[in-house]
Amino acid sequence: MMMMIAQASICKTRLPSLLSTTCMLQPRLSRQLSTGANDVAARLNSSGFFRTQGLIGGKWVDAYAGKTIEVNNPATGEVIANVACMGTRETNDAISSAYDAFKSWSKFTAAERSKCLRKWYDLIMANKEQLGELITLEQGKPLKEAIGEVSYGASFLEFSAEEAKRVYGDIIPSPLADRRLFVLKQPVGVVGAITPWNFPLAMITRKVGPALAAGCTVVIKPSEFTPLTALAAAELAHQAGVPPGVVNVVMGNAPEIGDALLASTQVRKITFTGSTAVGKKLMAGAAGTVKKVSLELGGNAPCIIFDDADIEVAIKGTLGSKFRNSGQTCVCANRILVQDGIYDKFASALADAVKNLKVGDGFSEGVVQGPLINEAAVQKVETLLQDAVSKGAKVLLGGKRHDLGFTFYEPTIISDINNEMRISREEVFGPVATLLRFKTEDEAISIANDTNAGLAAYFFSSNVQRTWRVAEALEYGIVGVNEGLVSTEVAPFGGVKQSGLGREGSKYGMDEFLEMKYVCMGNMS
Ligand code: SIN
Repeated sequence: MMMMIAQASICKTRLPSLLSTTCMLQPRLSRQLSTGANDVAARLNSSGFFRTQGLIGGKWVDAYAGKTIEVNNPATGEVIANVACMGTRETNDAISSAYDAFKSWSKFTAAERSKCLRKWYDLIMANKEQLGELITLEQGKPLKEAIGEVSYGASFLEFSAEEAKRVYGDIIPSPLADRRLFVLKQPVGVVGAITPWNFPLAMITRKVGPALAAGCTVVIKPSEFTPLTALAAAELAHQAGVPPGVVNVVMGNAPEIGDALLASTQVRKITFTGSTAVGKKLMAGAAGTVKKVSLELGGNAPCIIFDDADIEVAIKGTLGSKFRNSGQTCVCANRILVQDGIYDKFASALADAVKNLKVGDGFSEGVVQGPLINEAAVQKVETLLQDAVSKGAKVLLGGKRHDLGFTFYEPTIISDINNEMRISREEVFGPVATLLRFKTEDEAISIANDTNAGLAAYFFSSNVQRTWRVAEALEYGIVGVNEGLVSTEVAPFGGVKQSGLGREGSKYGMDEFLEMKYVCMGNMS
């Protein structure tokens, strides 16, 4: 299903994964929650999928040393829960469980695996609202958008359930009369799946769905900022009949978990969504045991508005791409390139639209812009904005922390940007729209491609020849033409250049979890 979530809905200040996290010896209790959030937490608690322990070999377990880590509500800073803070030992046990479970799970028929995945999908959809509440509570995105993420996330399970039955091999016409040649597709083995906080559910299902469909087993390491959704999803997988050990979840000490996954010869694949810096480390770390890797890394999406664009379509598309998840997606427009002839009209129409975006706690009615994930994220936005302003950029709207305090930031527009400013070279990962002026199509393409990133790009034009020309010229894995929301389970998601390796979703996403085996049979005449 095409993801049509509300304008506010994340990528690459997903710094947290594999960066240092501190475990503390604490009781595993929620405390200090305000009444609204308490109600939600209480409802979730009674739902049976509010889990705080890790999942290893089908058992919910505490960290072996009893350590826990706090999960906070980014809208208030309050502690939602203390979850198990795990490290090397727990990860090694999770890997062993996944390795043992692989022996039987990979022998399940495709139809049997498909049924488990379909049941998991059904359970997630049946609990859509509550899972959405959990996402809002720990990640901050507005509830409507969070529920949209649940449907989006579940769609990868439904799609994988269907694709499980279509893993075909090949028969190759033999060059010799007494030989028969064919190709088998077989599961890669144990997969380490490292996922970010911006889509606490969807980035898990987009990896685990095809992995399970192919016959692989997984050790998931969710972001320490948003483990509750991952644990809830794992509980629902268990309820759906996914056998013990097929899905394991460990979280806490990110460097230890990452290192254990990389060092193990039993883990045959690492799939990661997160920052380019961490992706590079994983790629280097995977070399030691020559693992397969899929990396969905940072973007720096250009969004080009040509003079011949339909302005309403361009505004809607730009809002959708830029302000989804308060600008915290890897496919968010990071540089808005506007052609000279339409620049002033576009800037003023965009300002009119952006000033109406309601900011607030994701549980409040009408809110489309939630808080940023944490203080570090706000500081990054501030630093990039100050740098741009010191080099001549002008603030048209917003430009500072929101009166609500905490990590709320005003939806912002800045103009007079050039492609050399830090704000154009790095992912802003916040609600800041930056406007660059250009004159010709060639100039726009050259600015758009002048980056090491290559995940998503967007452009708006009513000229049919131009739409082909520009779509072909952009060096990106994903191109939105007259559209700002492009993510769907049926199409391949992934980037070129330093934005990553491999694709997720679609029939192509399955290949990432399959090995090809060539079989040559002789003496057949
Ligand atoms: C991401 O930000 O990594 C994922 C965005 C999407 O799936 O649309």
